[in-house]
Amino acid sequence: AKPVTAPDIQAMKGGGKICCLTAYDYSSGLIADRAGVDLVLVGDSLAMVVLGRPDTLSVTVDEMVHHTRATAQGVKRALLVSDMPFMSFATVDRALDTAHRLMSEGGARAVKLEGGRPVVPQITALAEAGVPVMAHLGLTPQHVAKFGGFKAQGKSAEATRQLIEDAQAVEEAGAFSVVLEAIPVETAQLITEAVNIPTIGIGAGNVTDGQVLVYHDALGLFDRFTPKFVRRFAELGEASRQAVELYCAEVRKTTFPGDKNTFYMPEAELAQVRR
Ligand code: KIV
Ligand code: NA
Repeated sequence: AKPVTAPDIQAMKGGGKICCLTAYDYSSGLIADRAGVDLVLVGDSLAMVVLGRPDTLSVTVDEMVHHTRATAQGVKRALLVSDMPFMSFATVDRALDTAHRLMSEGGARAVKLEGGRPVVPQITALAEAGVPVMAHLGLTPQHVAKFGGFKAQGKSAEATRQLIEDAQAVEEAGAFSVVLEAIPVETAQLITEAVNIPTIGIGAGNVTDGQVLVYHDALGLFDRFTPKFVRRFAELGEASRQAVELYCAEVRKTTFPGDKNTFYMPEAELAQVRR
C-alpha cells in the first residue's frame, strides 16, 4: 500500500476518522501498521510505558531516536511521527537539531511537539525546513510540574478561548494537525470547528477528526494507572502473565521442550558415538 504522508493526514479533515496509535519498537510498529492505523506516533510516553519512569520529562533525544529507528523498521504504510522530548525544542535551533536527528537517524516522517502560541517560532522554522509538525494542546504531559499533576484542561470559558487561539496559531504557523488531550468534548468541538487542520483527540470526546491512544493502554499492557479516557481493547498484560506461568509450569513438569522442539542426532552418528 502507498505510504501515508502528512498532506494525506491533513486532507482527511472532515472525512473519515483518522486512526492513530503509539508504538515504540519493531513489533508494536508492525502490529499497528498491519492493523491499518493511519498514523503511528513514537510518543515520549515511552518514558512511562516502556522505560518505567514516573513521567515523560527525563526521556532524551537519543532514546527517542533509538526507539523511532526500531519502530520505523515495522511501519511501512502509516505516517511515522516522533515526539520531541521535554526541552529539546526550547529554542528554534534546538528544535531544528532535534527534528533533524528524529528524521534522518530515526526515520520519522514528521515530529510532534507540545505547546501553542509559545512554540510558534519553532513550528514556523520546522515547517520552512520541510519538517511536518503535529502540535499538542490541552493536557500536555511535559507541563505536568506546572499543572501540578495529570489533570484535564480547558474546563473554563477562558481556558477554552485560550486553547482556540493556540490551535489557530499552530495552524497559522504551519502545523499539519494537532493533538487535543484531556479536555471537555465541547472545547474539542469548538477547536475542531475553528481550524482547518485535523484535530486528533485523546480524552477529547468523539468529535475530533481522529483519535490516538497509547499502545500499552489500548492493549492492557500498562496498569500503573488507567486514565478515564482509556478503553482497553484487550487484556494482553494478563494474557502474557498466564502464558509465562504456563511456560514455567511445562518446564518444571518436563513437558517442554517436546519432541517437535528437540534436535536429534542421525542414527549412524549416534551408533558411533555410543560405541
Ligand atoms: O506520548 C504520547 O503517547 C502522546 C500521545 C498520547 C498523544 O503524546
Ligand atoms: Na507525548
